[in-house]
Amino acid sequence: MAVTINTLREYKQKGEAFSVLTSYDATFAQLVSEAGVDVILIGDSLGMVLQGNDSTLPVTMDQMVYHTSCVAKGNRGALIMADMPFMTYGTVEAALENAAELMRAGAHLVKLEGTDWMKDTIHALSERGVPVCAHLGLTPQFVNKFGGYKVQGRDEKAAEMMIEHACELEAAGADVILLECVPAQLAARITQAVKAPVIGIGAGSATDGQVLVLHDMLGVTTGRKPRFVKNFLAETNSVQEALAAYVTAVRERTFPAEEHTFKA
Ligand code: KIV
Ligand code: NA
Repeated sequence: MAVTINTLREYKQKGEAFSVLTSYDATFAQLVSEAGVDVILIGDSLGMVLQGNDSTLPVTMDQMVYHTSCVAKGNRGALIMADMPFMTYGTVEAALENAAELMRAGAHLVKLEGTDWMKDTIHALSERGVPVCAHLGLTPQFVNKFGGYKVQGRDEKAAEMMIEHACELEAAGADVILLECVPAQLAARITQAVKAPVIGIGAGSATDGQVLVLHDMLGVTTGRKPRFVKNFLAETNSVQEALAAYVTAVRERTFPAEEHTFKA
């Protein structure tokens, strides 16, 4: 049965962890979905892992639409989430138009990076039939504001602010929350505070789901390897086995381990 937004809610209710991976093409979308990964993310991380840029900022709508349509063709029943690239949701009107393009290309929900300023945008999308994932914490489109890729929400004031933002964005209509590079304890508090399923990356093991960039979990990433990454191909003999090992590790909550996690 195809995964829907309701499937993710059921996982949360039952306390069962679900898995998410990025894919950018039809072949990997098929392998990833056949391995039992619940959500495929067409991440704007493709700007880095496919295009070789040093940030996600250069990614365009046309590129996201192209990769989303490729993934949709290979997908076998996963929920398809597509990133809205940098500055394509700066106004409500732009967000509606651009989200519609991604939905037409085969996305089932879109992901936006930001805080309370996104309330009106999320509400407008949600009201018009576009489910939204709100990405908080280390939002890579803000790398120039953060002055680097840094763990977010480390002091109590910032932590409380993030909890407040997650609650406000859920109230505005966000169906899913994604937390990147936040202390595990904060991610656990946010996961408890909202009804929406929470996906984590570098956010500890208490979130409802886990996500990794495909290249990272296959160990083919060149350059700096973030703390939260695990190479699942290292202990297995094929890509298919590595994907299956990831799904199992997430379900059994053996990944992420302590060594992949940040403290406040
Ligand atoms: O673009 C991406 O791959 C992402 C994940 C790292 C969450 O946004
Ligand atoms: Na992204």
